[in-house]
Amino acid sequence: MRSHYCAEPDTQQTGQTVELCGWVNRRRDHGGVIFIDLRDHTGLIQVVYDPDDADIFAIAETVRNEFVLQVRGRVRARPAGTLNPLLATGEIEVLGTGLTILNRAATPPFQQDDINLSEELRLRYRYLDLRRPDMQHNLRLRTRVTQTIRRYLDERDFLDIETPMLTRATPEGARDYLVPSRVHAGQFFALPQSPQLFKQLLMMSGMDRYYQIVRCFRDEDLRADRQPEFTQLDMELAFVDEGQIMQLAEGLVRTLFREILDVTLADPFPCLTYAEALRRYGSDRPDLRCDLELVDIGDLMQTVEFKVFAGPARNPQGRVAALCLPGGGQLSRRAIDEYTDYVSIYGARGLAYIKVNQCAQGRDGLQSPILKFLPDAVIEALLSRCQAQDGDIIFFGADQAHIVNEALGALRIKLAADNGLLRDTWQPVWVVDFPMFAQDPATQRWQALHHPFTAPQSDHLAQLADAPGACLSRAYDMVLNGTEIGGGSIRIHQPDVQQQVFRQLGMTSDEAHEKFGFLLDALQYGAPPHGGIAFGLDRLVMLMAGASSIRDVMAFPKTQRASCPLTAAPAAVSRAQIRELHIRPLA
Ligand code: AMO
Ligand code: AMP
Repeated sequence: MRSHYCAEPDTQQTGQTVELCGWVNRRRDHGGVIFIDLRDHTGLIQVVYDPDDADIFAIAETVRNEFVLQVRGRVRARPAGTLNPLLATGEIEVLGTGLTILNRAATPPFQQDDINLSEELRLRYRYLDLRRPDMQHNLRLRTRVTQTIRRYLDERDFLDIETPMLTRATPEGARDYLVPSRVHAGQFFALPQSPQLFKQLLMMSGMDRYYQIVRCFRDEDLRADRQPEFTQLDMELAFVDEGQIMQLAEGLVRTLFREILDVTLADPFPCLTYAEALRRYGSDRPDLRCDLELVDIGDLMQTVEFKVFAGPARNPQGRVAALCLPGGGQLSRRAIDEYTDYVSIYGARGLAYIKVNQCAQGRDGLQSPILKFLPDAVIEALLSRCQAQDGDIIFFGADQAHIVNEALGALRIKLAADNGLLRDTWQPVWVVDFPMFAQDPATQRWQALHHPFTAPQSDHLAQLADAPGACLSRAYDMVLNGTEIGGGSIRIHQPDVQQQVFRQLGMTSDEAHEKFGFLLDALQYGAPPHGGIAFGLDRLVMLMAGASSIRDVMAFPKTQRASCPLTAAPAAVSRAQIRELHIRPLA
């Protein structure tokens, strides 16, 4: 139906006849001449119809936005003064000699270039939304990413193996999406939160190296970088250690950035321990584009009369930390109040601060509601430890360590973004030496920080039972510009260690067998040492595309409320269907 895509013709085709297909981006009537900007996935081209050919002109007059056209015409140079340097085809236009309306279009619910649309509207008319050039770009970028991934892994002897979607729960920390079984009354499949156990079984089957670009399902609170169904690049390898997996995984990411974005990433990626990441950045996914760091001051505050600081300073689970913003002394009272509100989202009960007007004047050169509580020696030590300069502001967090980390960790990024302190670079970093377990503050029960199949570091094995909180795992997360894009670990391959970890998580032997008997069985028949990693493909593509949400790199995402306005899913089903599934409707 066409000889060229819309953005292809240029001055080389001058004088030639071309045939083009596409959508009407815009139709303009200019004193007897009709201009049509015709659009396809490659871009725009200007087609001109003049009234010399009355029949064709009459058709052109009926054309409206988003009509689907087949156009025939002669390429000619644009008259001087009408060149459009912003358009690939800006030096030429097509003088229309033929026009077929392939399909008409109702008036679209929104303009292609409207950038203030609600998410609901965009997703309801997703097929129109996807016509936008940036969405076209993102989905094409995504294809290049998956192509490059497949080639990279093909070259390294990986098998692409599919695993079931109707399966048993795999614990990755979210709620499961359940599918009732018609055949087995009262029983349910779970959609996989990840193919974790299947890929481990494949290693036990001697597949050696597995990968899959696979959909995963997690019923959790949604955010800009979380969707209920999302895609992982999932990998697993036998007879490897963490060093080999990390090398392979970062090599893949370096290849993607080099080949697709022409960006050279660090080689090797820097590496931080979990403890160091929390201490310096308040986060296990630190954004290294910004140099601001948290500074521990608990030791200085043990005996001060300010209870807000002294309490957490003396509490082993507490933390008192400072965050110095260079030049922040300018901040207004109102700005500080806004930051105080901001940290309260993370549970902080306040945001003490000191404005450093003139360091040399000691106490008199400072401005702060908490000065009166702090002795001279403490103030002096504080300023020196924060390396504060005249004109800075120092913020403080004092509370349970996890609250201080979350609050000051988030404040650090916000301050950096608000004050132009986030460098325009790519900063990948590995985070390693995660604890095996974290204690749920509400129930005091131990939970796996990654998943319960993660191997403990061998010199920590003895601590599994006695000091679970001190036991470190062989897990690693890959973080890029503050987003966790991948995570993995070396797995447990000895059945007794796996049993021990289940026990630590409060599972009886019976429960462990009930839930994971097939894994415990398989581990007995010669499981090789193995490990792997999974990338959040949507997150990776989001970062590469410069998009602010993974929804912008998925063709048909869900809303923040986990629904699909396009198909109106989820939806009610008939009572008969429900009965067939052996479920009793509530209403
Ligand atoms: P994990 O749970 O860390 O590990 O998931 C791997 C990566 O998947 C991405 N991700 C998500 N992306 C979008 N929406 C979500 N709801 C979502 N949840 C996770 C993140 C994350 O880094 N089986 C293990 C991997 C392994 O151990 O090999 C796993 O699933 O980018
Ligand atoms: P108050 O004595 O409660 O008026 O607090 C004095 C200052 O300390 C105020 O600036 C509060 O915002 C701040 N503040 C209170 N609680 C905390 C906390 N847990 N961490 C940091 N600053 C706090």
